[in-house]
Amino acid sequence: MGTVIVVGSGAAGLTAALGASREHEVVLLTKAELGESNSLYAQGGVAAALSEDDSTELHLADTLRAAAGAGDEEAARVLCEEGPQRVRELIELGVDFDRDGAALARGQEGAHSLARVLHAGGDATGRAIVAALTRAVRASGVRIVENAFLLDLVVRDGVVVGVEVLRAGVRLAIEADAVVVASGGAGQLFLHTTNPAGATGDGVAAALRAGARLADAEFYQFHPTALAVPGTPLVSEAVRGEGAVLRDANGVRFMLDEHPDAELAPRDVVARAISRTMARQGGEPVLLDCTGLGTELAQRFPGFWALCAKHGFDPSSEGIPVTPAAHYWMGGIETDLDGRSSIPGLFAIGEAACTGAHGANRLASNSLLEALVFAHRVVDALEGIGAGRELVPDAHAAVALAPEQPAGSPLDRRDLQKLMWRFVGLERDAAGLTEATHTLDRWSLRHGEARSGSVHDLETANLLEVARAVVAAAAERTHSLGAHWRSDDVHPERDTSLASGTSGHESIDP
Ligand code: SIN
Repeated sequence: MGTVIVVGSGAAGLTAALGASREHEVVLLTKAELGESNSLYAQGGVAAALSEDDSTELHLADTLRAAAGAGDEEAARVLCEEGPQRVRELIELGVDFDRDGAALARGQEGAHSLARVLHAGGDATGRAIVAALTRAVRASGVRIVENAFLLDLVVRDGVVVGVEVLRAGVRLAIEADAVVVASGGAGQLFLHTTNPAGATGDGVAAALRAGARLADAEFYQFHPTALAVPGTPLVSEAVRGEGAVLRDANGVRFMLDEHPDAELAPRDVVARAISRTMARQGGEPVLLDCTGLGTELAQRFPGFWALCAKHGFDPSSEGIPVTPAAHYWMGGIETDLDGRSSIPGLFAIGEAACTGAHGANRLASNSLLEALVFAHRVVDALEGIGAGRELVPDAHAAVALAPEQPAGSPLDRRDLQKLMWRFVGLERDAAGLTEATHTLDRWSLRHGEARSGSVHDLETANLLEVARAVVAAAAERTHSLGAHWRSDDVHPERDTSLASGTSGHESIDP
């Protein structure tokens, strides 16, 4: 038995904490309340080859095709092969996936060759999964510490041996045999995102400071359809899967000219087509036309229906304004297939990690699946940790640390978000990336050392560090690939230079 710290309480963190608690003492740290995470807001569902007309090979082929030739085949195979069993375990845990008669109902989403997306509560899949997992975690022996903000990883002799956290204004150090970072992505890097406020890349930034390698940092996915209102809430791809179409301001269905799969093309293709259409119409959002879907829309997508009503839209009779928004980070802490990072003692899973499975563009609804599959594998990898160690009672007890000296003035987060949206968004070029690099360097000199202050300021400092990693990787990849679109690439469609072999998976040393 050892002690394991899990940071983050989305689907990945909850699954890892639950599994690890069968053998280890587990401390689950989460910066808000248990379960608050990107997973909680996932709508479309979880993709898994569970039906008779589907197979691992088909799911794998779709995953790799969406990945723009840059997916790591081994990682993607693990995802598709082990996914169905993880979903069965969720059902055993009480997740009530929607049914079509006795069979599991299956939704269609972009770049899937058939309907394989399981959903719960119509479009409240993440909520259903997180609810079942939080129930199970609360009933387990896991020690849950809410409102605990990860300040840093503690590294001793090149090994991660614990964390420093900030809780109720007090800095605490907690030791462990292993730390699993499951703290999600960093959608708050961008001015427009579907992500909740907490998606600030804290775990990735801490891993960078500790010396861990990142991979594929330039690959940030922009979801094609966020509702064009403040906060840009997600409008699930599953709505297009049911038949909704995209129209420009003149009512023209522009995706027909963009890709043979039209609205169900890979996400990066649809997002860019929307962005260019918006540019042509003076920035006006495009319209998601659901009027052909009939009255079943409200039952199939109750969350979407309620969201529209809240903002005064009626999807049964009018087009709904939508716009792309930052959604999912394919890059992150580089790991092997068991969640091991480049530093002993540090593991990463879920959106914070990069196994390479998603390549340059994640297939819709593969993210919850990834969280479950790689959390399960990390639990196996933790087997035996702490063995032979002299058991110190309460080894994971928190030790209070001296407060940090107050730092200088914090960076205004909105400035960072505007810069990233403008120069590191759906389309990038050398001039913009150079401008972004210089600005971030200047801000880092002025504000970057801030390891104290409010949680908001600490999050912004983390975003700044993550932004530098994203921009550095984006500047280095001079050709377009998947979600990383270089408008200065003279042959954008031919880029397979980094997709030869099985992977375009590229890592960055801090
Ligand atoms: C969606 O429902 O469109 C989001 C699901 C995902 O990000 O895969």
